[in-house]
Order: sequence, then structure tokens, then C-alpha cells
Amino acid sequence: MANMENKKIITLAIETSCDETACAVLRNGREVLANEVHTQIDIHQTFGGVVPEIASRNHLDKISEIIERALEQAGVGFDDVDEIAVTYGPGLVGALLVGLSTAKALAYALEKPLIPVNHIEGHIAANYIAHPDLKPPFACLIVSGGHTHLVDVKDYTTFEIIGRTRDDAAGEAFDKIARTLGLGYPGGPIVDRLAKEGNPMAIDFPKAMMDQDHLDFSFSGLKSAVLNYLNSCRMKQVEINVPDVCASFQHAVIEVLKAKAAQALSQTGYDTLVLAGGVAANSGLRASLGQLKGIKLYYPPISLCTDNAAMIGCAGYYQARAGQSGSLATNAVPNLKIGEKKYE
Ligand code: KG4
Ligand code: ZN
Repeated sequence: MANMENKKIITLAIETSCDETACAVLRNGREVLANEVHTQIDIHQTFGGVVPEIASRNHLDKISEIIERALEQAGVGFDDVDEIAVTYGPGLVGALLVGLSTAKALAYALEKPLIPVNHIEGHIAANYIAHPDLKPPFACLIVSGGHTHLVDVKDYTTFEIIGRTRDDAAGEAFDKIARTLGLGYPGGPIVDRLAKEGNPMAIDFPKAMMDQDHLDFSFSGLKSAVLNYLNSCRMKQVEINVPDVCASFQHAVIEVLKAKAAQALSQTGYDTLVLAGGVAANSGLRASLGQLKGIKLYYPPISLCTDNAAMIGCAGYYQARAGQSGSLATNAVPNLKIGEKKYE
């Protein structure tokens, strides 16, 4: 690897799996020279969630400009690029195809390898950028809008899912609760902020599967319990204390995530816990996991928690070093799982 590092590999990375059009340029996998993100959040806010067709059209409008901006920011030209990393799943198929087609065209024109990257594995890799000392193996808690997983990260390109949600993802529950409270989209950051003003013990919401000895999660019961609580307050015309609801809901989510993460560490024997995904930005979750004794806890800065292309470039860099590259036949895989390699 040291030899590789002297060669100064330039990775151009593209991410368009959901509602962010993103391009990044990295040197030797962990040094970010540019990380341009154009978010469509304000467009989708009107609808209370991402509208797939609108997302694809917006990616098409923005992708060339974002790539140009990233190259300019990095001070490199197309001729300096050694490999093109791109998210090929999971995500919205139309959105993924915009980034993938662009990456394929660039790989073809520049005669450079195309590295298809799993978006969720990218979220894990965001931590390598933020923490130069971090190396696998470790246990990773991935909490995003579409995923809640505990993963045994055995090395840079080998992953085993050891726990997963059986229904809703944690971020999905945050977004749904916020929507019902009329707080806006995406809900996570707003609930996080309001929770700081509320009492986490005010309402005793359920903490599903907390005491069971497997590593799976369930958040749909909690989501329903919060919705039922809100409906019953409205029916009884009892005033709803929004900060208390946010704090109590967030507390229930965090308690379960903390218990399962601790269990994952004892099961794998690792002393390192890594957080990844949009919900890893949650201040309560970070503080609570920080209280676990005898572990090393890593999480990315907020800007690298939510969707970006730098994390895709970092994951792609390690895949390329492991000889994993795709071709012009690589297709988008909307339901791609962690650890799966579904490209040719
Ligand atoms: O990883 P991400 O950007 O997109 C997916 O791949 O899903 O995660 C987005 C999710 C949304 O559900 C959003 O509400 C949640 O991350 N999120 C948060 C916070 N910031 C973003 N959830 C809780 N607390 C936050 N501070
Ligand atoms: Zn994501």
C-alpha cells in the first residue's frame, strides 16, 4: 500500500442515488481535493419527501456543472484522473442512472477504470476520510434514511451484515414523526434540534427488541406509538408538547441503537465502533454512544454524514486497489445490499 500511496492516485467520484447531485476529487483515497454537493432538498420539501422523477431530472440538469466545479476546485483536469468511482446502488433507479451513465461516458472517453460503489459502503468509508488512523476491522452502525444495519467490516472491501431493521429505518421514523408534527423535511435535524429543549423521560415510548439477544432492530412499533400518542392528544384536545415528543422519541431510538451496538461489539470482539449514515449526525446519538466504556468511537463530521461523493471516492479507491472494477455493462442496482458485488 505504501508504494501505491507514492503514486498519487486521483479518483473522480460521482453520487446521484437520491436527492443530492455530488462530485468529488480525492488524492490517494483519503485526501479530499474537492467535494461538491448540490442538494435538491428545497425542491422536494414541498412534497414532504423525495419525488423520484423530479430527482432524476434535477440530477440531469446539474451533473455536468457539479463535475466541472469539482475539477476546478481540486485544480485538476480530466487528464489527471486515474479512475472514476460512481454509486450504482442502492437508490432510486432513475437517479442512479444519471450518475452511472455520466461516469461510464467519462470512463470510456478517458480510457480509465469505472469503479461501481455501493452507496452504503460509501457511508462507512466517510470515516476513513475524517480519521486518518482508522483501519478495519471494526463494527459499524449504519443509520440512514433507508437503512439501519450493524455491519462487521472485516477489511476495506469485505462486509458482513450482523444486524438489520426488520421494518422501518431509523431515519425513516425521524422523517415520519417530523412530518406528522408538521415540522418539515428532512425531519432528523429538526427533531434533533427540538429534542434538546424537551424532556426525554416525558413519554415512555416502546424500545423494541432491546433485550433480545439478536442484533436486529424494529422501528415501526415506535413510529406507530408516537402517531397514536399524537392522535389521542388531538382527540382529547390535550396540548402537545413538541420538544417533549421529539426528546422522548429520540431517546427511545438511541437506547435501542446503543444497546445493539454494545452487543455487536461484544459479539465480534472488536473495541472499535464506527457510526455512518445521515442519522449519525444526531447529536443525542453521538453523545450517548460516547458514554460506552472501553471502546473507540468514530463518526464523520456532519458534512460527510449525509450524502456526498467524497465517501464514494474513498470506497472506490480501496475497491480499485483490490482489483474490483466494473465495465460499460455495469447497471444500476436499486436494491443492492451491503457486501454484494452486482456488476460486470
Ligand atoms: O444517509 P442519508 O443522507 O440518506 C440516505 O442514504 O438515506 O440520510 C438521510 C437521513 C434522513 O432520514 C434524515 O432525517 C436523517 O438522515 N438525519 C438525521 C439527522 N440528520 C439527518 N436524523 C437524526 N438526527 C440528525 N441530526
Ligand atoms: Zn445515504
